[in-house]
Amino acid sequence: MTDPSSTLLRARYGVGDAPKAGWPATLDPLIASLLSHRSVRSYLPDPLPEWTLPTMMAAAQSAATSSNLQSWSVVAVEDAGRRQRLSVLAGDQAHVRTAPLFLAWIADLARVSAIGAELDQPTTATAYLEATLLGVIDVALAAQNAVVTLEAMGLGTVYIGGIRNHPEEVAAELGLPPHSFAVFGLCVGWPDPAQPAAVKPRLPQTAVLHRERYSAAGQAEALDRFDAVSMAFQRSQGMRQVPWTRQTAARLKGPEAMSGRDRLRAALEALGLPTT
Ligand SMILES: Cc1cc2nc3c(=O)[nH]c(=O)nc-3n(C[C@H](O)[C@H](O)[C@H](O)COP(=O)(O)O)c2cc1C
Repeated sequence: MTDPSSTLLRARYGVGDAPKAGWPATLDPLIASLLSHRSVRSYLPDPLPEWTLPTMMAAAQSAATSSNLQSWSVVAVEDAGRRQRLSVLAGDQAHVRTAPLFLAWIADLARVSAIGAELDQPTTATAYLEATLLGVIDVALAAQNAVVTLEAMGLGTVYIGGIRNHPEEVAAELGLPPHSFAVFGLCVGWPDPAQPAAVKPRLPQTAVLHRERYSAAGQAEALDRFDAVSMAFQRSQGMRQVPWTRQTAARLKGPEAMSGRDRLRAALEALGLPTT
């Protein structure tokens, strides 16, 4: 059990910004582990235990799944050459090369389409945007269960949205069938203790939690506070200090800031995933 009033909440919200009221005296270890999450981008070359994949998969498959359709798959990539090619496709991200395991999380409508064909049963509902959303939601829930489990094992992870920069090339590299799409990747490895990752602060709960009805009252003040908290974090990490609001606006500036993902609709259509 961990004292919730101290380190974990302060790290998550920044010094002085941790919500003070309404916390239990002690925190369940699972919740403490969730609050300790940080993305890890530096790994030791050491191999992973054999039970990593089966344990992680059991946790991932234990996530809730829309209508029990289980419309997702994962491709586990260990081959160094394939990780190298995927790292280039993902915007030349070095951690895709250096992590011993790369997982590609797939929204998989191929399986249900094949079932329909086998049973000679039309599955035209798979031609609607709802089906794409369903696969994307299910795979995200499964992947997060996997992340929680891998972190509980002491492993480090980082999601890789960069594989959506070139969806068709990633699909070809992974041999994906039509009606499937790699939504994001996940690097997995032992964190390099020489390059420790820090817990990154999040917005104050007042900005994110609405009671009964959505309210933007207090948003501006919360964002001001968070800009200060995130710049203090950047300072502590020796990073360039940029207010979070500016970073966020710049990331969403326009198609030029999207690393090719502005053509995602066309890519999804090409891969047989409905967008309408
Ligand atoms: C769907 C998704 C895609 C992401 N893609 C990348 C990526 O391509 N490269 C990367 O280094 N980090 C990526 N991240 C990690 C985020 O940058 C990170 O979660 C965020 O900055 C918060 O930091 P934290 O995870 O350490 O708390 C991604 C995270 C998510 C959820």
